[in-house]
Amino acid sequence: MQKKLVVLTGAGMSAESGIATFRDSGGLWEQYPVEQVATPEGFEMNPELVLNFYNMRRHELIKAKPNAGHYGLAEMEKDFDVHIITQNIDNLHEQAGSTKVIHLHGELMQARSTGDDSLIYDIDPAHPDLHLGDMCEKGFQLRPHIVWFGEAVPMIYEAEKICNQADIFAIIGTSMNVYPAAGLLNDVRKGVPVYLIDPKDVHTNRYDIHHIQKGASEGVKELKELLK
Ligand code: APR
Repeated sequence: MQKKLVVLTGAGMSAESGIATFRDSGGLWEQYPVEQVATPEGFEMNPELVLNFYNMRRHELIKAKPNAGHYGLAEMEKDFDVHIITQNIDNLHEQAGSTKVIHLHGELMQARSTGDDSLIYDIDPAHPDLHLGDMCEKGFQLRPHIVWFGEAVPMIYEAEKICNQADIFAIIGTSMNVYPAAGLLNDVRKGVPVYLIDPKDVHTNRYDIHHIQKGASEGVKELKELLK
């Protein structure tokens, strides 16, 4: 049976695809206050600003392509039972060919009804913008299908279960600042090898981590070699 390789990814995974990270210098939260664009209160106060923020992100994603890191993880499905748990709202893991991807923070290319959480729609890349007045079939305004700060993270339970079953665990391109995602490391059993791919130091509470101090593309290449 193939070993279960569980990979937690964050914004740095897609940085080499031209997608902005959040907390690096020049990151998104420097330019756009989180409270305004990524909270339910911000959406209530100025829905147009929030819709526009995500419209811009969508245009950025449509131009982007997966990088060698995304492709490398997809290729590893030949040798491992790879499960990706991503904080990213882009679909670059899927575009690269990964088949088991959990999105903790939602998906940029989907819209959701503000009046009925079960109504989720794919956004057509040919018409990627959401506007005020765009309604679900029940007549409620549509919003981005994104988990904002202060909102529940429904996929966390499934993610915890998978982390608990990991034989090998890797963390790529996340500053591990945001919970509950960062807490998933606590669900990885003792003795399971943990790799971290990030050009910077990332603080965690686990001391047996093998740090591959590289960007995602080079880092995944090295991880593949190490796991051979
Ligand atoms: N390769 C790998 N890692 C990189 C690269 C790269 N080329 N470039 C930057 N990084 C690393 C940074 O060093 C940093 O540790 O990616 C990490 C990005 O951290 P954040 O910007 O904090 O992004 P992330 O951890 O994904 O944020 C978590 O916060 O704002 C919310 O919902 C949003 O999902 C997001 C969550």
